[in-house]
Amino acid sequence: MYSSDVPVHLVQHPIAQDALSSLRDRATPSSEFRRLAHRLSLMLAIEATRKLPMSLARLETPLEPAEGEVLNANVVVVPVLRAGLGMVEAVLTLLPTARVGHIGLQRDEHTAVASRYYLRLPDDLSNATALVVDPMLATGGSALAAISLLEQAGAKDIRLVCIVAAPEGIAAVEAAHPSVAIFTPVIDRQLNAQKFILPGLGDFGDRLYGTA
Ligand code: PRP
Ligand code: URA
Repeated sequence: MYSSDVPVHLVQHPIAQDALSSLRDRATPSSEFRRLAHRLSLMLAIEATRKLPMSLARLETPLEPAEGEVLNANVVVVPVLRAGLGMVEAVLTLLPTARVGHIGLQRDEHTAVASRYYLRLPDDLSNATALVVDPMLATGGSALAAISLLEQAGAKDIRLVCIVAAPEGIAAVEAAHPSVAIFTPVIDRQLNAQKFILPGLGDFGDRLYGTA
């Protein structure tokens, strides 16, 4: 479905895999689901920000002058509503000065085609690293729409962070946006007839907010 050189970064850290297993468990209640989504998003965000621009800084330790590296990055985190909201705070915990854009997309229940209902992005994305956070990469329709909106707004460095990716979604992103790196703890088996990921974890937004 997708070529071996597609920039998919599999985050196989044990803490990430443990959180993913609990997220999959149908018995996990929303309160715990939210905590797990936050914990796993922290692990993913750390990987997704591994290659951020740095600069050298002179500083004073209590003992003597020293040099250190400091972040010199302009990060914009962009949750795809609604489910992506469960991942934002993790990115902001790591990068409190990141700006936040919002993209509202809703998949049609029958066709699985995503339509947009909200868009608010920060200005001047041309030098920014845009981290799209959307937990489920299923058909890829939502991710493609989000990436296109960011490109139209001038973003050049776009990274997609998700919690479960389907081969179909990865293939769609690779075909349309081969330079977009994808960070995920897992690539699941396939989509079902309703375009839900198997084995997946069900409807992420509903489980996050208890609306199932
Ligand atoms: C879910 C999920 C993704 C999208 C993935 O959102 O959060 O955004 O589906 O599916 P795709 O790859 O086939 O586009 P949904 O539209 O159910 O909205 P919600 O987040 O408000 O629940
Ligand atoms: N959106 C979800 O929340 N889950 C899926 O399996 C597919 C799309």
